[in-house]
Order: sequence, then C-alpha cells, then structure tokens
Amino acid sequence: MEIIITKTYEDMSRVSAEIIAREIKRKHNLVLGLATGDTPIGTYKELVKIHRNEGLDFSKVTSFNLDEYVGLAPLHPNSYNFFMRENLFRHININPENVYVPQGNTDDPEEYCLWYEEQIRKSGGIDLQVLGIGGDGHIAFNEPGSSFASRTRVKALYRQTIEDNARFFAKIEDVPRFAITMGVGTILEARKIILIANGRKKADVCAEFIEGPVTSQITATALQLHTEATVVLDEEAASKLSRTEYYNWVRDHKHSVQKMIGR
Ligand code: PGA
Repeated sequence: MEIIITKTYEDMSRVSAEIIAREIKRKHNLVLGLATGDTPIGTYKELVKIHRNEGLDFSKVTSFNLDEYVGLAPLHPNSYNFFMRENLFRHININPENVYVPQGNTDDPEEYCLWYEEQIRKSGGIDLQVLGIGGDGHIAFNEPGSSFASRTRVKALYRQTIEDNARFFAKIEDVPRFAITMGVGTILEARKIILIANGRKKADVCAEFIEGPVTSQITATALQLHTEATVVLDEEAASKLSRTEYYNWVRDHKHSVQKMIGR
C-alpha cells in the first residue's frame, strides 16, 4: 500500500483528484468506481475544477458506484444516486448512459446484483476504484464479517453505520437497514484502488486498517492484499499511524526510487 499523508482535507482532495485525473488522461475510456459520503465531496469538487479549467474529458468514462440504500428511489434526496448527480455528474460531461449507480428500489435485488456484476464485467472491469472508509472499517457497505470473496449483494447495515449516517436523515429510524453493495471481492478486482480518509474520527480505524492484521472484521484491511492500492489521508486521519516517517520518506523519494529501478 502506498500511503500519502497530506496536511489538510483540501490537500487530500486535490491529491486524490489529481490521481484520478491522471488515470483518465492516460485512458480516455477509463472505468471508474465511485464512492459517496462526506469524504469524497472535496475530491469531486476538484475534479469538476479540472474539468472546467483544463478540459478533463469524461465523455468516454464509465462509472460504477459502490452502493445504494435498499428502498430509496434514485430521485430520493438521501439516495446515493441523488448525491452523485448533485456532487459530480451534473457538473461534468459524463454520458448518462455510462453511469451506473445501484438501484435501491429494484423489485428483485438478488437478480439486480447479478446484473450489476455483469455490467462491470462487460465494461472490461474497473480500472480505478475510489473508496472511503466507515467508522467500523467498512469499504462500500461491507460491514464487519463480510467475506473477502463477497460480490455485489444486499447487506444489513451495522449499528455504527446507521448511527454515523443518521446525520443525513431527519431521524435515525429513517436510515435504511439494508444496502446493495459491491462485495470485497468485487472491489479487489479493480486494477487500482485509491482510498481517501480525513479527520480525527478516522484516525483509529486508519491505523487499524493500514498497520493492523488482515481481518474481515475491518474490511478495509483487504486492501493489504491488493498490489496497486494507494491511501491518501490528511494529518488528522494519519495521527495514530506509527510509521509516518517511513511513509513520508517513500512519498518524497518515490521519483528517485522509480528512476533508480528504471520505471
Ligand atoms: P464518510 O463515509 O465519507 O461520510 O465518512 C465513509 C464511508 O462510510 O465509507
């Protein structure tokens, strides 16, 4: 795992957006996995800025979102579909036909999850997957105990996730109890992964998933099994890491090391 520690949330957002933009410039028809939550809002703002100021072209990009609440229609203001439209899609030139967000109000979730996996496969697979991390260590809605082999499916939300996400709803009883989510296995098949995290409230879980043992109790630890995973975090989220000096040295010498080994 490559660990990039930035000073502030704004720096985390800029660095992560630059990484995403670089991949889109390299491959115009990139298949991009996207996340929701407070964390990526700044990253999406930066991507919109790069689109406006430098003409970053999303017209051939295909996107797949990680998850959606079961029961919420795409136009529901608390749906992730709505979130994505408001925070990214309506500000860039992505083709709506190439946008996939799980449909929370599908009649047949089981069949739908198989279809979603099939669309990812038909698109050629995810090139770059953007992730946040939940307070319980989840990636997407892969709650504690999710199999590392899991695929897109319906998952019951963990109590902490319901409490964490209650801030977006009028009352905690309104938070859906289930979500459609890509599985850990689905995520691990992405060619590259970037996980972003900020704030003191993520410090413990970041130390656990970066430096702790691999366990399905903290599904973000699955990233330790991936060869192209990058974590971009601000100083607060990094404050409980024990090997900060090493990560910073590697970050600052990356280019000279690459040169030395001829990459
Ligand atoms: P957050 O959520 O960005 O709102 O903290 C992250 C997550 O639950 O994956």
